[in-house]
Amino acid sequence: MKTQIVIIGAGPSGLLLGQLLHKQGIANIILERVTPDYVLGRIRAGVLEQGFADLMRKAGVGERMDREGEVHGGFEIACNGQRSRIDLKQLTGGNTVIIYGQTEVTRDLMDARTKSSQTSIYEAKNVQPHDLMDDHPYVTYEKDGKTHRIDCDYIAGCDGFHGISRKSIPSECLTEYERVYPGGWLGLLSDTPPVNHELVYICHDRGFALCSMRSKTRSRYYIQVGSSDKVEQWSDEDFWTELKKRLPKELAEKLVTSPSIEKSIAPMRSFVVEPMQYGKLFLLGDAAHIVPPTGAKGLNTAASDVYTLSTILEKVYGQGRTDLIAKYSEICLRRVWDGERFSWWMSNLLHKFADTSQFEQKIYESELNFILKTESGKKALAEQYVGLPYDTIE
Ligand code: APR
Ligand code: PHB
Repeated sequence: MKTQIVIIGAGPSGLLLGQLLHKQGIANIILERVTPDYVLGRIRAGVLEQGFADLMRKAGVGERMDREGEVHGGFEIACNGQRSRIDLKQLTGGNTVIIYGQTEVTRDLMDARTKSSQTSIYEAKNVQPHDLMDDHPYVTYEKDGKTHRIDCDYIAGCDGFHGISRKSIPSECLTEYERVYPGGWLGLLSDTPPVNHELVYICHDRGFALCSMRSKTRSRYYIQVGSSDKVEQWSDEDFWTELKKRLPKELAEKLVTSPSIEKSIAPMRSFVVEPMQYGKLFLLGDAAHIVPPTGAKGLNTAASDVYTLSTILEKVYGQGRTDLIAKYSEICLRRVWDGERFSWWMSNLLHKFADTSQFEQKIYESELNFILKTESGKKALAEQYVGLPYDTIE
């Protein structure tokens, strides 16, 4: 087989890239290790920045998002019972976010892929990129007991944190930056009306909590748990009891509970690999960087890589601008570090981590107080929450 771009991984990064390239007339094949249902079963954040929403529209898949997604002009932070609103719209001169689950984003992208003429190969085993430094790279994979080969111009590694793409780069060519936080978020999805019409981030002595949602009838709640906690240890009842203890009183009284649809623990990690490219291989999304979930920047930062690579490839194939290839990593990393810094900052402000010194804890409390009490503080939080602009690529 032969194509222009092989995309490894059919998560949101791979699917969105595939769809944008398809729209630009660039042929691509997606190779995914698991089944479509398995991909759709992963529950992740659902807060879309304007830049992400615009990319979905550009890819021709924004219709259901615009119809069913909820536009949010603000969110709340509750600190030991005291609630403050961050008015995103007013503080950013009109910007908002869209609440639309990643599962729905993925479903819309999968449907568009099925309608397009591009090939997707699910349950592709032992995917392996080859000859990355040559003019003729290729990818091999196994399916139905046979080994297949796809020759291509470039390879997009969209295969997440545990994928093969990053591992295919010699380790001496990469630098990894990492912070693993002690603890994670236990998330519960339920068919109950959200306790508040906007998201509420809760900073509490018992630990962080978040009230989020997927729709008017589906809620997503999180509580911070310890590093050794396992999801099986937490019954639904224990979850609701603990959440109520962390909620401001009036919200705890309003909370509607029900059996969970899904429950899982999201680890908290900050991770970046530099550079995000090696010869003909580019890394995108979770393959190159991870953020803790606070602030929902994972999907949005992945989207800015997709924007950068799809824009560069459009210029490479349309205008012969092969000089841009070498700039991919540098352009991506500027915005990646914006997302990393913001997620790290918001995590520190709203959590109490076991490895934070008492001094640092006091500094974070003072900083949160400053943010919530001043217009400039709230503005800085709001501007980053709605998403900083993408770099122009010339
Ligand atoms: N071969 C083929 N596919 C693979 C391989 C492999 N060796 N390893 C992993 N994959 C697939 C996974 O099965 C998964 O479907 O790559 C996909 C990677 O998807 P995500 O982990 O969702 O990564 P990404 O698309 O970059 O996600 C960006 O969305 O899922 C969230 O946390 C993620 O917020 C981040 C954002
Ligand atoms: C979610 O709805 O899953 C969510 C929302 C906001 C976050 C993280 C997760 O900051």
